[in-house]
Amino acid sequence: MKLGTLNGLRGKRLSLTLIIIFTTLLIWGWERTPHQDTFHPQHEQDLYPQVARIKYIHQLPSEEEDFPDADTIGNRTNGTVPQVLSDKPVGSPTASKTTEVDEGLQAITVENNACNYAKGKWVSHERRPLYSGFGCKQWLSEPWACRLTQRKDFSYEKFRWQPESCDMPEFEGSKFLRRMQDKTIAFVGDSLGRQQFQSLMCMVSGGEQRSDVEDVGLQYGFVTGPDAARPNGWAYQFSSTNTTILYYWSATLCDVEPLNVSDPATNYAMHLDRPTSFLSQNLHRFDVLILNTGHHWNRGKLNANRWEMYVNGAPNTDKKLAPMGSAKDFAVHSVVKWLDGQLPLHPRLKAFYRSISPRHFFNGEWNSGGTCDNTKPLAGGSVVSQDAAVDVAAVSAVNGTSVELLDITALSQLRDEGHISKYSIKGTQGVQDCLHWCLPGIPDTWNEILAAQL
Ligand SMILES: *[C@@H]1O[C@H](CO)[C@@H](O)[C@H](O)[C@H]1NC(C)=O
Ligand SMILES: *[C@@H]1O[C@H](CO)[C@@H](O)[C@H](O)[C@H]1NC(C)=O
Ligand SMILES: *[C@@H]1O[C@H](CO)[C@@H](O)[C@H](O)[C@H]1NC(C)=O
Ligand SMILES: *[C@@H]1O[C@H](CO)[C@@H](O)[C@H](O)[C@H]1NC(C)=O
Ligand SMILES: *[C@@H]1O[C@H](CO)[C@@H](O)[C@H](O)[C@H]1NC(C)=O
Repeated sequence: MKLGTLNGLRGKRLSLTLIIIFTTLLIWGWERTPHQDTFHPQHEQDLYPQVARIKYIHQLPSEEEDFPDADTIGNRTNGTVPQVLSDKPVGSPTASKTTEVDEGLQAITVENNACNYAKGKWVSHERRPLYSGFGCKQWLSEPWACRLTQRKDFSYEKFRWQPESCDMPEFEGSKFLRRMQDKTIAFVGDSLGRQQFQSLMCMVSGGEQRSDVEDVGLQYGFVTGPDAARPNGWAYQFSSTNTTILYYWSATLCDVEPLNVSDPATNYAMHLDRPTSFLSQNLHRFDVLILNTGHHWNRGKLNANRWEMYVNGAPNTDKKLAPMGSAKDFAVHSVVKWLDGQLPLHPRLKAFYRSISPRHFFNGEWNSGGTCDNTKPLAGGSVVSQDAAVDVAAVSAVNGTSVELLDITALSQLRDEGHISKYSIKGTQGVQDCLHWCLPGIPDTWNEILAAQL
């Protein structure tokens, strides 16, 4: 343990140095190439200078919810569910071989601060996936449960993330629930946050049908009804431990309000410097909070949602904030700063900002024939060796705050085969989803790292 801690510390110092170097490069690049509204490749390079070292170039997020939304689609592709396949995950989560002992928790807590969970490698592992894509129908949105689609290759499910210099205990749902007794875990963000929420629900319940889970959405004002397209959030409580896990949909994390409440065609003020009111209203109820955003920051979304950027309660007049990338960074900094200021008032709250989930559209964009057809896991390598986080904007937002970074970008970049790809609902029309991930899949690892950092 001591050795691990020392290595970790050294790693941390090195990582800080690298971060500073990269930040310098970033600022330098930034000043040389002013932001533009459209994200073309040159611009991507400037925003993410170090990514060039990774084979799969990180792509800036653009359109997201133009993929059919998980809950507005009622019907599963009929007749394509492989009926004969086993309902059991390949590695049964109950057949535990873990050597983790409870006294290990103390040591892990000590190591937490020193360990960079984002640096490490993917290794094939018998006990993956952590739950069954058939068994977890209760929590998975149909388009994301790739086992229920026509997809036939599932080797992407069989990998475990191994951080280089720290032990990551095997995740066990029941143990996790006990640790989280009487606690509330909240995900707030875009649909990638929702994926992580569904993943955690499956991981905790072992992908089995649970009758001891209560829908407590009403307590958070998540209303669903015959006319509602979908609720804006979901909240469930495991009655064995009174652990609540919830997700609230906030694409930008900003407070958004109609400019004219009596006009159905009203525009909305998107307050870049004001977090979504759901956060301010409910923060006192949370023990763990995981924020994310990134995939809605583009002109198309802004216009389609009739959002207008507001700063200081008035329409934004600062030209430097007008480009979407700058607006996003400003909003993320604002929400993290606000949250950091709230933490002393909420001493039991542990807050994370999750770094961007990478997209993998090759040979085109989401709407111009872009694909992610590779089925060979880790074709571009299995190791993340750099210390510095890829999502520089996220690093800089949490820097100097008590909000922790949940850094999943680089390790997810290696997993282009793990997206929904052509098995999306729109797949038959040639549209691939290289943004969202198959579940079980990559977001499970995000939750393993989250659990290790708690
Ligand atoms: C879904 O199923 C219903 C009846 O089960 C059918 O009427 C409807 O057309 C289907 N929708 C799609 C998009 O296939
Ligand atoms: C597919 O649809 C048919 C009737 O349209 C129905 O009998 C069958 O149960 C459906 N299969 C699945 C897997 O939903
Ligand atoms: C859960 O909460 C209820 C009501 O607050 C309480 O009666 C019950 O004992 C709690 N159960 C556990 C396992 O903590
Ligand atoms: C708000 O919308 C209503 C209905 O369209 C309209 O009559 C009213 O003039 C609007 N108010 C303002 C201040 O624009
Ligand atoms: C973090 O903040 C410190 C102090 O403000 C600054 O010197 C450093 O450059 C920042 N690092 C990053 C990565 O933003």
